[in-house]
Amino acid sequence: MRCTTNILAGFACAGLVIGTLTASPASAASPADPQPNSGSPGAGDLKSDGPTQPAKVQDGQYTDKNGDPTYHVTDGGKKVDWYTMSGYLRYNANCIVCHGPDGMGSTYAPSLVDALKGMDYAHFAGIIVGGKKDVNASQELVMPAFGDNRNVMCYMPDIYTYLRARSDGAVGRNRPAEHEPKPAAFEKAEDACMK
Ligand code: HEC
Repeated sequence: MRCTTNILAGFACAGLVIGTLTASPASAASPADPQPNSGSPGAGDLKSDGPTQPAKVQDGQYTDKNGDPTYHVTDGGKKVDWYTMSGYLRYNANCIVCHGPDGMGSTYAPSLVDALKGMDYAHFAGIIVGGKKDVNASQELVMPAFGDNRNVMCYMPDIYTYLRARSDGAVGRNRPAEHEPKPAAFEKAEDACMK
């Protein structure tokens, strides 16, 4: 599949198409962690404790009650879901040069740890696809448009998920110590998007 420059393509490219879910017996037994011992979550409804907490998981991708991508951090903050891990890597490849290590901001660009507070996925995606220019700033501040860059477009939910975790303080600075396995569905969507 070819990635195009609209927001919905960003969703489609990254396979964020959540269908009707049926809770598995495992998730019924332990709503906060659908398959606690396997490390490989399937699909199911989760007990959501807050606006950024996962309400559903499908193929290792967690979403909040609005259907926006969100993180899943376990083991006292040490272990993250695959998308958070992937987002960390993509952030470091594409955004760190301006926004600084761990989303902390720099003299070139604002802190995304602050900016992501309360920013929903559609708003975030709009900025990444189309860019942003602050015309009133005394210094020229330009956020480039990434709509034609598959290294960003194919991983937009991942980057959002990682930054959301940073913004909530669920993951600290530096590389997450452990992560859930790469879901097969992620690999398939990635291959299709990068073609
Ligand atoms: C060339 C430098 C540069 C790069 C690379 C860059 N940004 Fe930005 N970004 C900026 C600047 C400058 C702003 C502030 C623009 C403004 O205030 O209008 C910004 C703003 C943003 C905002 C809006 C913040 C707010 O407060 O509304 C988001 C979200 C964002 N960037 C995410 C990203 C992500 C994710 C990446 C990597 C895929 C990235 N940026 C890469 C320079 C950059």
